[in-house]
Amino acid sequence: MTNSVRRTPLIAGNWKMNLDHLQAIAFVQKLAWGLADAKHDASSVEVAVFPPFTDLRSVQTLISADKLPIAFGAQDVSEHESGAYTGEISGAFLAGLDCRYVIIGHSERRTLHAESDEQVAAKVKAALKHNLAPIICVGETAEDLEKHGQSAVPVAQLKAAIEGISSTVDIVVAYEPVWAIGSGQAATPEQAEQVAAALRAVLVETLGEDVAAKTRILYGGSVKASNIAGFMREPNVDGALVGGASLDLTEFSSIVRYQKHVGL
Ligand code: 13P
Repeated sequence: MTNSVRRTPLIAGNWKMNLDHLQAIAFVQKLAWGLADAKHDASSVEVAVFPPFTDLRSVQTLISADKLPIAFGAQDVSEHESGAYTGEISGAFLAGLDCRYVIIGHSERRTLHAESDEQVAAKVKAALKHNLAPIICVGETAEDLEKHGQSAVPVAQLKAAIEGISSTVDIVVAYEPVWAIGSGQAATPEQAEQVAAALRAVLVETLGEDVAAKTRILYGGSVKASNIAGFMREPNVDGALVGGASLDLTEFSSIVRYQKHVGL
């Protein structure tokens, strides 16, 4: 039932702390030219980029002026609305720049900035308040994998992140095993599918069949042009959150055009 609904695949590029605003403009412009040459149909695959905060205004201006078929969002959001929070960026500011998405709970935030499940949940609510679709990142470390198996930690993180949210919201879930991020060692498509299916079961349980059926679940962790097709064949994997390969125009464009490799 949950897999009979068509979900528009989402290929999202998380630039992390790379590309300044001038490099961002050049990159997005070239990406758009490539998509136009390939007669990219935004209804068949949605493309989104996640530049650093300081690039967002430039990216917004370029995309809106040229009506480019590229969505964009931020890599984080504050759980607070406004006030004395030096260095933080509120959901209101991101919504004011036309961001459609915001990445929340990336493993680099969880580990390097000690972000807790409670903070992730508060950020999800802050994003939804401003109609930003949160891309909720979950994933197990190599140690978690050994101790608890593959799905337990991602499932627990997702449950914590969506606790108390309404059943009509627009969210995206990204399964990113920490051991696969930047390691060159991606999960197998079967592993990604197994966890994605467990995550979808959590969505059914907490938000109901309809929301679960329309919610996209992405895989992230060493995604490249050479392995994307395998993930996209899986019924519960609806796209990818790409790190390193999203900074290479040829590679990222090729990931976006994965359908051409598999003749879908
Ligand atoms: P890599 O694609 O570089 O492994 O990074 C994945 C990631 O962290 C995307 O958010």
